[in-house]
Order: sequence, then C-alpha cells, then structure tokens
Amino acid sequence: MQLQIALSLALAALSPVAANPVAPRQSSPKVYLAGDSTMAKTNAPLMGWGEYLSKYLTIPVVNKAISGRSARSFTNEGRFTEIEKLLVANDIVVIAFGHNDGGSPNSASDNGRSDCPGTGSEVCKSGKTGETVYTFNYYMEQAARKFIAKGAKVVISSQTTKNLWQNGQWSGGAAPPRFVEYARNAAKNVGGSSVSFVDHYQSVVRTYAKLGSAAVNAFYPQDYTHTSLAGADVVAQAFVQAVSRDLNGTTALKPYLKNPVPTVW
Ligand SMILES: *[C@@H]1O[C@H](CO)[C@@H](O)[C@H](O)[C@H]1NC(C)=O
Repeated sequence: MQLQIALSLALAALSPVAANPVAPRQSSPKVYLAGDSTMAKTNAPLMGWGEYLSKYLTIPVVNKAISGRSARSFTNEGRFTEIEKLLVANDIVVIAFGHNDGGSPNSASDNGRSDCPGTGSEVCKSGKTGETVYTFNYYMEQAARKFIAKGAKVVISSQTTKNLWQNGQWSGGAAPPRFVEYARNAAKNVGGSSVSFVDHYQSVVRTYAKLGSAAVNAFYPQDYTHTSLAGADVVAQAFVQAVSRDLNGTTALKPYLKNPVPTVW
C-alpha cells in the first residue's frame, strides 16, 4: 500500500515535467551536409571541414559528405534521396559540390562524376554507359527542391578553394571555378525563402589572404585540395563567419551560430 502511494506520488511528480513544453528540445533542427572529400570525414592527416561545423553551431550536424562525389554521382548513388528520407520540417541541408564536377561525360572513359556542360536543361549521354547526364545546376536544383518539399531549408554553398598560396604565390585574385557562380545561380533558380546561397569560396579566399603563405601551406600536407585537421577547422570557421555576416544573403543557419562567432577574415 505504502509502495503504491509512493509510486503514484512519484508518477504525479514526473508527469508535469514530461508535459512541460520547454523541457527536451526534441524539435531542434538538424543540419545535414552533402558534399565531397573537402567536407567529408576523411582520414588523418586529412579532414573535411564538415567535421568541424558543429563546434560553431548550437544544433547537431550530420555529415553525409563523401569523398570523390560530384552533384551527379551523389544523385545517382541515391545519397540525396537518403538525406531526403531523414528530413523533418525545419531541418537544414548544406549542399556543396564542384571539385569533382568538371570534365565531360561524353568520352568513353566517363568517370561517372562529370556533369553535362552548361547551366540549364542541357543533356549529355555518357560515352561509357549511355546514361543520360544532366548539368550541375539540374542535379543541385532538383535536390534542393526535393528537400524544400519536405519542409527543410537549403543552403547552397560554393565549393572550397584549393591552396591559394601554392609555391608561395598568391592566386586568390584569379577568377573562381565556374561552379561557384553555378551554385549561386542554383539558389537563385530554385528561388523562394527556403533556399539561400553562401559563397564559402570567397570567404576562404579572404581567410587565406589574411593568413598568408606559411600558415596556409601548412594546411595542405598531401596535395593542393585536401586540408589537414587544422585547415578543416579554419575552413569551417570561414563558412561560419560568412553565415554570420550574411556574405551573400541571410541563410537558415544564422539563428544557430554559437557565440562568439569566429573571425578569420
Ligand atoms: C558573395 O558576396 C561577396 C561579398 O559581397 C562577393 O564578393 C562575392 O562575389 C559574392 N559571390 C558570388 C558568387 O556572387
């Protein structure tokens, strides 16, 4: 009897807590990342910047980026669809491709990654498999629209830079790869308030200009594309600063920045 009373008292004490709407933040959005090796979890001494993003956000980050992928191969392997299935309303997806998207799919040695040249509804045929290949913009915009249809917000990011201090020579003044502008146009073409663009490329240019040759070269232990762990952290900080400064418009990530926001440029 006494036990029963104690139990019901305990339950009564518990239930208001469970019903309290401010208790656990189950409705906190998640951030999903779609991209290539420059964003992915890779192996030391290399690392992608996506692994450091959660350091600077108040919400969890799920890094679905994977090495070697392009907008085309990420689509064909069902990786955008996998993210789409996980999304609930107000989740945020950051999409960044470009490093593996160049080249032509028409050749007999089509690598399965090159998009069809152009920025619209052009189609190509893979010289290897006969697959119909679409443009970078087609793949990016199709993914963004599907995510938005699930109630998510989409942040289309330009790709990262390469080492802009190769051999001590500054190359940050050169025109960015064409996929930077394509990414901006992808966000514009999708349109509406659920999609935004952030020029991560430009943000890294500013960061590397400020850091100088020695510091930046130390971020590239193997090649000119893939960063070290320390480099990945700085590239993540450049992304976060771009978001905090609304570099190319306000993104859905802005309310979730941790204070203080890093300043790298
Ligand atoms: C993003 O905004 C910055 C700052 O205004 C600008 O320099 C850059 O060109 C923009 N990026 C694109 C792709 O328009």
